[in-house]
Formats: sequence, structure tokens, C-alpha cells
Amino acid sequence: MSSNRCLIAGNWKMNGILEEALDFLGELECNPAPEHVEIALMPPFTLLHSLCEPLNEKDVRLGAQNVYYEPRGAFTGSISPLMLRDAGCQYVILGHSERRDIMAESNKQLSSKLAAAWAAGLEPILCIGEHLEERENGTTNAVLKKQLAILEDVDGSAALTLAYEPVWAIGTGKTASPEQVTETHAFIHQELQRLGHDCRVLYGGSVNPGNAEALMGCPGVEGALVGGASLKADSFMQIVKAAAKAVS
Ligand code: PGA
Repeated sequence: MSSNRCLIAGNWKMNGILEEALDFLGELECNPAPEHVEIALMPPFTLLHSLCEPLNEKDVRLGAQNVYYEPRGAFTGSISPLMLRDAGCQYVILGHSERRDIMAESNKQLSSKLAAAWAAGLEPILCIGEHLEERENGTTNAVLKKQLAILEDVDGSAALTLAYEPVWAIGTGKTASPEQVTETHAFIHQELQRLGHDCRVLYGGSVNPGNAEALMGCPGVEGALVGGASLKADSFMQIVKAAAKAVS
């Protein structure tokens, strides 16, 4: 893991109401953040405004879990990049497998979202990952390569973080082994280099306090996108500490 690029980002998904978020914040002891580790939280849209300032005070960056690509207008139920900036977001997760699979988000939509996020000054955390069947039939790299092709015509200087999340490891308690993670991250870094991007690559998928140190210690892993274990301040901070240990 390169020492100044580590990010631990908590993806709360569709979890969290204000009372729970305030309890979480009360228990979150992370200021100052450990050296070389950046911390970010992606709560649901409804909490962005309320959490912006308290998170800022704790030196935690704010992000959203999705965005629409139009700047404004008649798009009932959608949130624009400008609105995310207005709520204090620095990051936005894009292409999460739950959006690709459950909400049928297409690559075309994803491309538009990336462009819109960049235009508004947001840093996308672009998720890629293979399904179990693809891992088992040996097509993981081909799947990742196809997902990364979205970056083909993108300027390499665009602010970007990548998250490798094997779909079979998300919310299942199964994690990729350190060997699988090392091998896959090496492939992703190689592809990114070919595409002219030098962005950090996080691992995601059932990261928890028990496996964080081993996963964060894998070559080419520069942080984690954490779902379930980010809902409790204590387990989230244990993962932050494990990352700090791995980069030290
Ligand atoms: P999980 O989720 O840590 O609960 O597996 C990770 C993610 O989907 O980003």
C-alpha cells in the first residue's frame, strides 16, 4: 500500500436515521486521523447535510452513494452532483454492484455519471467486481477489464478512486483470500496503467476488524470500502487502525 494514498470509506447503504448517526458520531474517536490514512463516510442522502459539519470536525470526509447525471430539472427523485457538492460531499460511489445488479444501472449511465461527477468537482469511487460464477469459470480478469474500459477515453488526471469488490464477497461474510486480492489488484493496477490512470485501488467485500489487517497488508491494496462493519463506530475504527498499521 503506498503510504499517502490509503482511504477507509464507510458505505452505509440504505441504513441510518439521524438518531443512529448521532450515536455513531458520539462514539467515533478519529481526530486526528492516523498518519497516512484518510477516512470517509457515505451515509444515505437524507443524512448528508446533518453530518457534514460534525464529520468535518472529526476530520472525516463526506461522500454519497450515488448521483444522477443531469444538473437539474424534471427528474423526480434524483439528486444532482451540484446538490451533493452543496451538501458538502467530496466523494461519490459509482457503479456499486447493488446498483448495477438491482437497479440495472448500465455502463452508459455510469459513463454519464462519471462525467457529471467530475464536472461538479466530486471524486468518484468507481466500483468494479466479478460475480461468483465469473470467478469460478476463470473470467474475472476479462470482466474487470470490460468494466474498466469505461475509463478508456477519460483524462488520466481526473480525480478517481477505484474499489475492487468481488460481488460474491459483499455482505456475505466471505472475503477474497489475500492471494486472490493480491493477484487481482496487480491485474487492476496493470490495466489502469495501460489506460493512463494512476489512481488508488481499495478492496471491498466483508472487510471487518478480524480480516482488515491481512487485507490491507496485501500489495496493491490502498484502503477499503466497508459496508456492514462501518455501521458501528467501534468496528469501523478498528479497520482504520488496521489500515494505519499496514501503511506504517
Ligand atoms: P460489506 O459491503 O462490507 O457489507 O460486504 C461492502 C460494500 O458493498 O461496499
